[in-house]
Amino acid sequence: AHRIGVLTSGGDAQGMNAAVRAVARTALAMGVQPCAIMEGWQGAVEGGDRIRPLGWSDVSSILHKGGTVIGTARSKAFREREGMRQAAKNLLAYGIDRLIVIGGDGSLTGTNEFRLLWPELVQELVEMGEITQADADEHPALMICGLVGSIDNDLVGSDMTIGADSALHRIMEAIDDISSTAASHQRTFVVEVMGRHCGYLPLMAGIAGGCDYVFIPEVPPEDGWEDELATKLKAGRAAGRRESLVLVAEGAIDREGNPITATQVAETLEEKLQEDVRVTILGHVQRGGSPSAYDRWMSTVLGYAAVQEIMSVTPEDEPTILGVRHNRMARIPMMKAVADTRSVARHVKAGNYAEAMRLRGSSFTE
Ligand code: F6P
Repeated sequence: AHRIGVLTSGGDAQGMNAAVRAVARTALAMGVQPCAIMEGWQGAVEGGDRIRPLGWSDVSSILHKGGTVIGTARSKAFREREGMRQAAKNLLAYGIDRLIVIGGDGSLTGTNEFRLLWPELVQELVEMGEITQADADEHPALMICGLVGSIDNDLVGSDMTIGADSALHRIMEAIDDISSTAASHQRTFVVEVMGRHCGYLPLMAGIAGGCDYVFIPEVPPEDGWEDELATKLKAGRAAGRRESLVLVAEGAIDREGNPITATQVAETLEEKLQEDVRVTILGHVQRGGSPSAYDRWMSTVLGYAAVQEIMSVTPEDEPTILGVRHNRMARIPMMKAVADTRSVARHVKAGNYAEAMRLRGSSFTE
């Protein structure tokens, strides 16, 4: 009987559990044995009871839970060849050569490197006497399918990633909470929002929360932003706006590529406005809590489709990511998506902000 592996890797994201549950139950319904690889790639490196066959009830009561019940890690060992060889050996011990990986672009890149090295690693294992030639011949290739689990919504090619909608809800709740205390004191709040190098969360939160100003990595502010920002906020006050909210992406930068931090923005504003400014760093609260309805059903649909995909691919096929485009499930070539995602940063560095934003927004505009 066939076996498939499922693992979550990189930062956890709300909705990963829904995806794992859908993968496990779809596989079981198809007569395929799903195996959880615990703690991401670290579990594959360690093997033993880190690789666990899943039954129907092993994934009961996890649909509504945040995080990932099968654990995740940013595995250092898996970055080394030795670690990858161990991982190949442990997967083969379970007869797993089809894998569904739920993680961010870093995890998917690492997974693809492993896939490309697989034939060599398997041959090394034969030479070391760890596996037989018959084992190697039976599993000549590793087949992978990716689902993007990341609150950052940073994968070019997919409208949404697993967790982004829930994180946006967390941010909205926080902004709504902050605005009542801000209005009471007629204060300005500078709120730092996650998203690594992607401005999706701060930009959408800024629009949905009616904020005054948003700093995002893809479009650094023009030089002299300090005066422009202060003038805008003063005008708001003069027009009767009691609270001012400024969002700063954790990856915000200026036109020279230097970081712009929430504290720096707050200090600038205190000096220019001569009023109290407070900083709130939302941090990991954004990654916590239960998944939104969208993250639950979208991840369920994607988990279901990922099993169909992984059971139909052949060793010759290029790996695919399943994502969302125009509100439909989409098959996206994995390496193109990862390369496009990386090139956003390159365009920002070169000052091509329009191109950076075009790539980021391509799924909404094309
Ligand atoms: O990629 C998800 C994310 O939450 C980013 O928004 C953030 O930059 C990073 O992970 C934080 O990483 P860690 O959980 O390792 O502190």
